[in-house]
Amino acid sequence: MRLAMIGSGYVGLVSGACFSEMGNRVICVDIDEKKVEKLRQGIVPIFEPGLDKMIKRNLEKGNIEFTTDIAYAVRNSDIIFIAVGTPQSEDGSADLNHVLKAAESIGQYMDHEMIVVDKSTVPVGTADKVRAVIERKLKERYPDGAPFGFDVVSNPEFLKEGDAIADFMKPDRVIVGANSEKSMRIMKELYRPFTLNHERFIAMDVRSAELTKYAANAMLATKISFINEISRIAEALGADINKVRIGIGSDRRIGYHFIYPGVGYGGSCFPKDVRALEKMALEADIEPEIIRAVQRVNHTQRYYFLNKIVSRFGDDLSQRVFAVWGLAFKPQTDDMREAPSITIINELTKRGATINAYDPEAMDNAKGFWLKGNDKVNYFDNKYDALNGADAMILITEWKEFRSPDFYEMKKRLKNPVIFDGRNQYNREFLKEFGFEYYQIGVRG
Ligand SMILES: NC(=O)c1ccc[n+]([C@@H]2O[C@H](COP(=O)([O-])OP(=O)(O)OC[C@H]3O[C@@H](n4cnc5c(N)ncnc54)[C@H](O)[C@@H]3O)[C@@H](O)[C@H]2O)c1
Repeated sequence: MRLAMIGSGYVGLVSGACFSEMGNRVICVDIDEKKVEKLRQGIVPIFEPGLDKMIKRNLEKGNIEFTTDIAYAVRNSDIIFIAVGTPQSEDGSADLNHVLKAAESIGQYMDHEMIVVDKSTVPVGTADKVRAVIERKLKERYPDGAPFGFDVVSNPEFLKEGDAIADFMKPDRVIVGANSEKSMRIMKELYRPFTLNHERFIAMDVRSAELTKYAANAMLATKISFINEISRIAEALGADINKVRIGIGSDRRIGYHFIYPGVGYGGSCFPKDVRALEKMALEADIEPEIIRAVQRVNHTQRYYFLNKIVSRFGDDLSQRVFAVWGLAFKPQTDDMREAPSITIINELTKRGATINAYDPEAMDNAKGFWLKGNDKVNYFDNKYDALNGADAMILITEWKEFRSPDFYEMKKRLKNPVIFDGRNQYNREFLKEFGFEYYQIGVRG
């Protein structure tokens, strides 16, 4: 099939690459000229395991191409995906400017029958808005009516950064909301290669598909905030959250996924999507009680962790140096959008601390954007070098390379053998025997 992706970020690139891998012809468009130029040379601007190889392979085969020319993409595709960002606007709702701009361009250049697919996470009712914008543009070009039709369908994306290729190639489910049978048939055919071994295509109406994405993210965020709240209760009551987690996870109705205590959720999706769902509920005169609480708990959890450090070292941290392991909002990505590390580091440096940071992939993003201007942060190419002379190590992102570090080396390099573990990665008893002062989430120190 002839496809186009408007927006070549995490979602547009991964979807575009995976569709091209199945033999489709894919045109990826972006307004960012530098990004497109790099992609043309096979240089992938984000870290996502396996993505660069897949893109290179399909560039060589001519299955995928990159352009800033949206007119070319619209005229040479039959299914066009809108995969641009939908950041949080000031009032908390999803900012649809990029989506509606993309819709405008589609209406401006469309010259044959097409399916327009909302892949971005968008509030319920957005497909209607996209349709109205395209219709308005077509009306300007064809006052007597366009000689072709188009349909707008919803196909929210569920990939996880860090595991995005696997998620797209072998999805748990593909959700498509369409109000026309023909579009549904075509979408099902497009996804057939990804759902061959058993049916995972779930068809529904457009509004339900739009809401499904928000409900899924809100549910996952709720699980995280729930276990984080329990972790604080556990610590206060002298219980061990690590044992409680296993105890409740063993109930199949609860399960082990997404109940790890930590420093709270971050990333490009959960915070903004939970907020946007709250906004959608309020606009529909529904009081979003759980959704509000989930966000409050998430905010508090970062400060609960920070307080462990401040309680140990005091509020004046001007003579203190902390090694921070992990900056990305989760392992296997360089994405730092809404990462807990940003809050924790800024709060520590505000109190005068110096930070020696290390992350396997996210340091360029930290230096170049998220922690730019914070001159109390130094960056190291090696996790052990970041420990030299530090008062404590603070683990924020649970990259695999942090799971079994050389504790002898750590002890040698640290000024004080103190670890604050924001992801409960280590064995408390073992570290205590080793002579470490070890603080975890949801366990008394
Ligand atoms: N990142 C994820 O893990 C994930 C997962 C599921 C869903 N989503 C949703 O998918 C959407 C995209 O997210 P993302 O993380 O890929 O965003 P992103 O910021 O990585 O990429 C968006 C891209 O769109 C480009 N763009 C903006 N306006 C454009 C226009 N008019 N024409 C062409 N290109 C344009 C930007 O330059 C950018 O490269 C969001 O709605 C997000 O909520 C993201």
